[in-house]
Amino acid sequence: MHVSERTLPIAALQAAFGDRLRLDEPVGRLTSARIGGNADALVGVRSADELAQTVETLWQLELPYLVMGGGSNMLVSDAGVRQVVVLNQANKVEFHESAVWAESGAGLGSLARQAARKGLGGLEWAAGVPGTLGGAVAGNAGAHGGDMAGCLQLATILHHEKGRQDWTLADLGFAYRESWLKRNPGQAVVLSAQLALTPRPEAEIRAEMDTFQAYRRLTQPPGASMGSMFKNPAGNSAGRLIEQAGLKGKRIGNAQISPLHGNFFLNLGEARAADVYALIQEARQAVLKTAGIELELEVQLVGEWPQQD
Ligand code: EPU
Repeated sequence: MHVSERTLPIAALQAAFGDRLRLDEPVGRLTSARIGGNADALVGVRSADELAQTVETLWQLELPYLVMGGGSNMLVSDAGVRQVVVLNQANKVEFHESAVWAESGAGLGSLARQAARKGLGGLEWAAGVPGTLGGAVAGNAGAHGGDMAGCLQLATILHHEKGRQDWTLADLGFAYRESWLKRNPGQAVVLSAQLALTPRPEAEIRAEMDTFQAYRRLTQPPGASMGSMFKNPAGNSAGRLIEQAGLKGKRIGNAQISPLHGNFFLNLGEARAADVYALIQEARQAVLKTAGIELELEVQLVGEWPQQD
C-alpha cells in the first residue's frame, strides 16, 4: 500500500487554530468500526459557526479536509488520514411545533428519541440509525422505509463559492443514499438542518420504534461495524447477493462478513482496515461472478487505499 508524505503545513494550522489543533490523533478509534490509523491533524468544532469558520479557513489555506461526525459510515485506512479532520461536535437542538432544527453534529437517533418524548412523530425510522444529522443529510440516510429526503425541510450549507445558503430538497439533489454533497466532496458543508415533525401520541411513536428495533436485533449483528457496506442494487439486496455468493461468515484476520447479515462487515477485535478492504474486494468479485452485478460501496473509504478501479 502506498503511503504518502505528511505534507500539512503544521505552523500555519497552529497559527489558525491554536489549542483546537490536535496532531497525530487516533481517528480510527472514533469510528463505529473502531478501525484505522491516526489523522495528521484534527480540529474540533463545537458550534455551527465554529464549523463554518474552520472550513472557511481551510479553504483559504487550500488544505484538504474531511468533516467527521459519528464516524458510522466510514472506513479509515491503517495508514490513517492525511487531510485535516474536522470533528463536528456542534449539537445545538431546537424543537418547534412541527419541526426540529439542529446543528449538523447532533446525533440523528438522539433527535428521533427526543422528538418521541415530545409527542412528535416523523423520525421513527431514525431512532436506531447511528451518526450525525450532517452525515445523514450528505448520505441521505434511511431505514425502515424512511429517509432524510422524506423529512428534510431545509439545510443550511456553507458553499465554497456561494457562502452560507439555505438549501431545499431540490437543491440537495437526493437519491438513494446520495446527495449533491456526497457527489461533490470538499465543495460544501452542512451547518444545520430542519426536519419536519407531526404531533403523534408518544405511545404510538414508541411502539413503532420498538418494532423497528426488534427487526434490527433479529437481522443485524451487534458489535463494531460500519453499518451496510454496499448500497442495495436496484430491486435487490446486497446482503442476499453476498449470501448467495457463499461469503457469509468469511473471515480475513479479525475482519469478518457477518454470519447473520451479508452486508455487515465486523471488527472482531483490532481488525486491520486492509483486511476489511480485502473482504470488500472478495465480495465484489464473487457477486460479479455469481450474479453479474457490480456492488457499489455505501461506506466512505477514508485515507490511503490502493488505486480505485
Ligand atoms: N437478506 C438475505 N441475506 C442476508 C441479508 C439479507 O437474504 O445476509 C435478505 C433479507 O432476508 C431481506 C432482504 O435481504 O429479504 C433485505 O434485508 P434487510 O431487511 O436486512 O435490509 P437491507 O436491505 O439489508 C436496509 C438498509 C439498512 C436498514 C435496513 C432496515 C441499505 C444498504 N441498507 O438493509 O440501512 O437498516 O434496510 O430498514 O439500504 C445502512 O444503510 O447502513 C443500514 C443499516
